[in-house]
Amino acid sequence: MQKLAELYRGKAKTVHTTEDPDLLILEFRNDTSALDGQRIEQLDRKGMVNNKFNYFIMNKLAAAGIPTQIVSLLSDNEVLVKKLDMVPVECVVRNRAAGSLVKRLGVEEGIELNPPLFDLFLKNDAMHDPMINESYCQTFGWVTPENLARMKQLTYQANEVLTKIFDDAGLILVDFKLEFGLFKGEVVLGDEFSPDGSRLWDKNTLNKMDKDRFRQSLGGVIEAYEEVAQRIGVKLD
Ligand code: C5P
Repeated sequence: MQKLAELYRGKAKTVHTTEDPDLLILEFRNDTSALDGQRIEQLDRKGMVNNKFNYFIMNKLAAAGIPTQIVSLLSDNEVLVKKLDMVPVECVVRNRAAGSLVKRLGVEEGIELNPPLFDLFLKNDAMHDPMINESYCQTFGWVTPENLARMKQLTYQANEVLTKIFDDAGLILVDFKLEFGLFKGEVVLGDEFSPDGSRLWDKNTLNKMDKDRFRQSLGGVIEAYEEVAQRIGVKLD
């Protein structure tokens, strides 16, 4: 399948059309951004690592019954996907306190959240992805209550599957973000799952192995992504 035109250029991925109107090619770039895209750096190998990481995780989720947009891996940096009508809302599950939750509530980083929290954010860089809730989605028409309920159920289901995969690899899945879209009326998981959109801590040392290394200028960003990939069984080369 060949790339035709560039449809959309996001902060880390470019979306291309193909000759099939139902299919797109996602190209994972090396760009790494923080602060809603105000800080961007190129990290060698990141596009390849995240593409293969995402493909591996999406296949695990699909095997557990979660519908995903993945069709096939095309190259180191490209994956063929179903074209979704994306819902402009991010679904976040938190198993431990970190990031914006710690800032907002002043709770201690790392405390266990039982049951895990579910947050919604509007995808809007200019407004810094504000936190929203179910009633905003309905009033502004971003997603129907039925489809949002399905998104929430699938996000919690993904949390169960992924918590086990990372736990078996000596890692804590602290939190993560998923994005969904509609394909012929069905809610389908889109975008990506990688250490760019999740927090992963080493179980013993509590070392951060995710994009917080970039956000907090801790160094060793790609080395950490590659170690996570290797521990869960992603083949990178
Ligand atoms: O920033 P916050 O603590 O709300 O992030 C929660 C989780 O969602 C983190 O794993 C973060 O990487 C992810 N996230 C994301 N994209 C955003 C906001 C959060 O991937 N725009």
